[in-house]
Amino acid sequence: MNSLLHFLWFAVFATYCYIEALVRCFIPVKRKSVAGETVLITGAASGIGRVTAFEFAKQGSRLVLWDINKCGIQETAEDCRKLGVEAYPYVVDCSLKEDIYSAAEKVKKEVGDVTILVNNAGVAVTGELLSIPDKQIQKIYDINILAHYWTVKAFLPAMMKNNHGHIVSVVSVAGFVSVPFLLPYCSSKFAALGLHKGLTKELAALGKDGIKTTCLCPFFVSTGLIENPQSRIFPILKPEAVAKRLLDGILCDQKKIVMPYPVAMFSFVEIILPERALTALEKFLRVVFDVKKHE
Ligand SMILES: NC(=O)c1ccc[n+]([C@@H]2O[C@H](COP(=O)([O-])OP(=O)(O)OC[C@H]3O[C@@H](n4cnc5c(N)ncnc54)[C@H](O)[C@@H]3O)[C@@H](O)[C@H]2O)c1
Repeated sequence: MNSLLHFLWFAVFATYCYIEALVRCFIPVKRKSVAGETVLITGAASGIGRVTAFEFAKQGSRLVLWDINKCGIQETAEDCRKLGVEAYPYVVDCSLKEDIYSAAEKVKKEVGDVTILVNNAGVAVTGELLSIPDKQIQKIYDINILAHYWTVKAFLPAMMKNNHGHIVSVVSVAGFVSVPFLLPYCSSKFAALGLHKGLTKELAALGKDGIKTTCLCPFFVSTGLIENPQSRIFPILKPEAVAKRLLDGILCDQKKIVMPYPVAMFSFVEIILPERALTALEKFLRVVFDVKKHE
């Protein structure tokens, strides 16, 4: 009886939540200000990271920019300064835990506490699983997921102390849909999405309602990370459009951003479609890219 009452209460509450969500669709969402916030972006020398830095600069944020590419990161910092904000470039190899921890200490001393962390640096390798060298698989995991742990461990304590902050994970549609010849990348992104979801729940369980989380899951973006991506239906995204959408999501404290939105339905489609129909759908969508031949 007790369980039945609980279930009925849940059904009523879920209906109320649906109605609330529907009503919210018609009410403009209040956007927060990120002016004066100290934003750290990893992998900011090029691609999505670089243009995301410009979006934050336009909002008046102070920028801490990390990348392994020295010239590129200095150029991004210079371009941010031209937009009228402070920008601090650091050469950091995000595949190395020690490099991350020592750079984090330097940032805390030289710039102060980071209030918005954007884990964006990422690498990919295409190819048949059995031909991809072990070292490359390891590196993908070091950068695409383990680095997220080390940066969070370095910067979350100050956010927890002040109950103020935002942790952003640049994941991918590959975080919930796997494709052949991109296995280490896809599985590392599954892990990054898992970390985002778990951390979001853990912060809520700890009552840290002032620390927000956002996860960005775009389809292919024309940055050169994956060579020559194509699809029959979904367009290849431009990094500028992705960065704009990401910033908008951060300002609204949106938890998950999928671009383009219909791709988000894929997890549901995977459950409801029979195996052979799913294979036919994947063939129809024709998601392809250049696959590297490893020696
Ligand atoms: N391009 C896409 O199709 C696509 C799609 C979905 C998600 N993403 C994700 O977006 C993020 C950014 O990718 P992008 O497309 O802008 O690629 P990109 O190659 O243009 O940028 C990645 C940046 O990370 C830096 N980087 C690489 N290894 C590093 C290391 N060891 N330490 C520090 N920095 C390092 C690179 O120098 C580069 O500046 C990645 O996490 C990627 O997985 C990309």
